[in-house]
Amino acid sequence: MRDFDENNITDAVIDRFANTPDTRLKTVMNSLVRHLHAFVKDVEPTFDEWLFATQFLKRCGHISTGGREEFILLSDTLGVSMLVDAINHRMPAGATETTVLGPFYLDNAQEMAQGADISMGHKGEPLYADVEVRSAGGMPLAGATVDIWQSDDDGFYDMQKEGGEQYLRGRFKTDAEGRLKFWSIAPTFYPIPFDGPVGDMIQATKRHPYRPAHLHFMIAAPGYETLVTHLFVAGDKYLDSDAVFGVKQSLVDEFPRRDGGTAPDGKAMTGAWRTLNYSFGLAPKD
Ligand code: BEZ
Ligand code: FE
Repeated sequence: MRDFDENNITDAVIDRFANTPDTRLKTVMNSLVRHLHAFVKDVEPTFDEWLFATQFLKRCGHISTGGREEFILLSDTLGVSMLVDAINHRMPAGATETTVLGPFYLDNAQEMAQGADISMGHKGEPLYADVEVRSAGGMPLAGATVDIWQSDDDGFYDMQKEGGEQYLRGRFKTDAEGRLKFWSIAPTFYPIPFDGPVGDMIQATKRHPYRPAHLHFMIAAPGYETLVTHLFVAGDKYLDSDAVFGVKQSLVDEFPRRDGGTAPDGKAMTGAWRTLNYSFGLAPKD
């Protein structure tokens, strides 16, 4: 066939995939072509605009080296990551809601003992956390692996700093009652990396790059779906405009503030500090 035009080219391209043996790949390619062509018909880009679009993607590729994943950041900032997350996590009652993984997870975080302080002496308002891990049905899960990571008081993760020191992250095991106690500092809001093409998109569209203050959790236990989530601090000014659309009300906690006194582990406190109590529920596999 020849003489393709605006009216027949979409079907012609879809026909070209007719012999794809992998039916899932065929579904993906057909839908991609249909939606991409509909997008182009909707926008009617000039040649310069289409060239700009291809250069944008090229820049996303070029900056994606080492720990930098600009295409994931693009997916995050367009709400696609949370859409994929929602489609893949239609959770049973009692299971904690999920949210984005983000680029700052490390799979070799330092293992820490119950009660340890992950701040490693970095400045910030002290935070005492006492959380528990249960099955969605309410059974305490002893020995669950709990990875925690967060930004520092200046809004940076350890991975964003020179030197390779691990801080404000750790890997713990829950105790016999499924509980985990640890010290940290209160998280603060911070910007997603915005020195690349995604940042240019954020600026050109007058969005802001900030995420509300949160702690990241990844919780794994045999027989259960691994839970990837955050706990957000109530009152943060970015809760309703998170740059990556990751906030869920069930994940917002007050992190109540105290002044002086004695912490639950007996530590004498001076000045303001905060507490966190939360019960996580893990969905059974399948
Ligand atoms: C984060 O919370 O660490 C994060 C998530 C998505 C994009 C950038 C950062
Ligand atoms: Fe984060």
